Amino acid sequence: MASQPPSKSSEPRKKYRPATELVHGGAMRSQFAETSEALFLTQGFVYPDAEAAEARFKGDDPGFVYSRYANPTVAMFEERMCLLEGAQAARAVASGMAAVTASLLCDLKAGDHVVSSRALFGSCDYVIGTLLPRLGVSSTLIDGRDIDAWKKAVRPETKAFFLESPSNPTLELIDIAAVAKIAREAGARLIVDNVFSTPLFQHPLKLGAHAVVYSATKHIDGQGRCLGGIVLSDETWIEEKLFPYLKHTGPSLSPFNAWVLLKALETLEVRVTRQAESAAKLAEVLADHPAIERIYYPGHKSHPQRALAARQMASGGTMIAFDVKGGKRGAFDVLRALEVVKISNNLGDAKSLVTHPATTTHQRLKEEERAALGIGDGLIRLSVGLEDPLDLAEDLTQALDAASAPTLRAVSA
Ligand SMILES: Cc1ncc(COP(=O)(O)O)c(C=O)c1O
Repeated sequence: MASQPPSKSSEPRKKYRPATELVHGGAMRSQFAETSEALFLTQGFVYPDAEAAEARFKGDDPGFVYSRYANPTVAMFEERMCLLEGAQAARAVASGMAAVTASLLCDLKAGDHVVSSRALFGSCDYVIGTLLPRLGVSSTLIDGRDIDAWKKAVRPETKAFFLESPSNPTLELIDIAAVAKIAREAGARLIVDNVFSTPLFQHPLKLGAHAVVYSATKHIDGQGRCLGGIVLSDETWIEEKLFPYLKHTGPSLSPFNAWVLLKALETLEVRVTRQAESAAKLAEVLADHPAIERIYYPGHKSHPQRALAARQMASGGTMIAFDVKGGKRGAFDVLRALEVVKISNNLGDAKSLVTHPATTTHQRLKEEERAALGIGDGLIRLSVGLEDPLDLAEDLTQALDAASAPTLRAVSA
């Protein structure tokens, strides 16, 4: 087994296309030359003598020390993600929220200021809007689509910008390259939560972001089995800022979950390509249904930021949102009538899943805050899975038909 504590893509080697890197990248074989990457389910490592332990702790010998710091299976997952993302270094953590929180707390101190788009996943909103201010880090939430708003929000003490694009759940887009430029000029680091577009369809680091974070729970696992997260950036920041924070606060990814995620990466390209193709077809079906007021899909002609989507995303992605007529009652009627598509708050899964954001993921927000984000009572978020798209189209259509008969009668009464 190669001795390699932190994961790095620093050694020169031939680069392959994503689908190939996702199958082979980062693999380290033990003395048994196993085909499938090994699961090192161990908290620690044995040293041949006390001198070796001393050298390992001092950093003179680059072997593994303790799985809170680094673990061979976790390192393989990190390295495979670096190759996919084109990042110098990465550190994996226990969940997407651990990744978001660590990417901010590792590098901020009381007195600093953060600018963030306001269209955020509920827990990201809590971290930026509530937790950071409690620790003395102020934050300004803006409409991230408005490029001037980023400029206007900058203060001398601004140290970080944060955004999600597309956003959860209304699929608003933010011009990552334009925001990265403003961040650079302000001396701030732009962190992008790239969950919705997946590592295959959008590359924030190439667009100028400083760091990219993922909930690996979503498309990366894609089979609803475990939680995970990862932060990717340049090697200096990852090792000097992020690593000490993780090492001493301990939100480590378990080797077992890292192994699940590592093996899941082998099928990521096939899965999300199929899911996105199905999503594009379903967007057409949904857009034409009389029970729907409006759909939100970056790959659909009705999306107001279609040109930006074409510029910065390689696909419209796997997520669609739509407003049904009849508000909460109309939305609940649709959810109740679905048979193949399941009600759940996860996304990026092999199973198609629907969520009613106003009563679940964004329930914490006040009604007026939800309204400002475009999260109405009739909004449904759909994560498109791997089922046959015709079965999905039939299921959604029958649910909308069933729900819309009484709803449309009530609306027109
Ligand atoms: C955009 C976004 N960021 C972060 C997270 C948090 O991920 P996790 O549930 O793995 O902590 C989610 C979860 O839904 C999300 O949608």
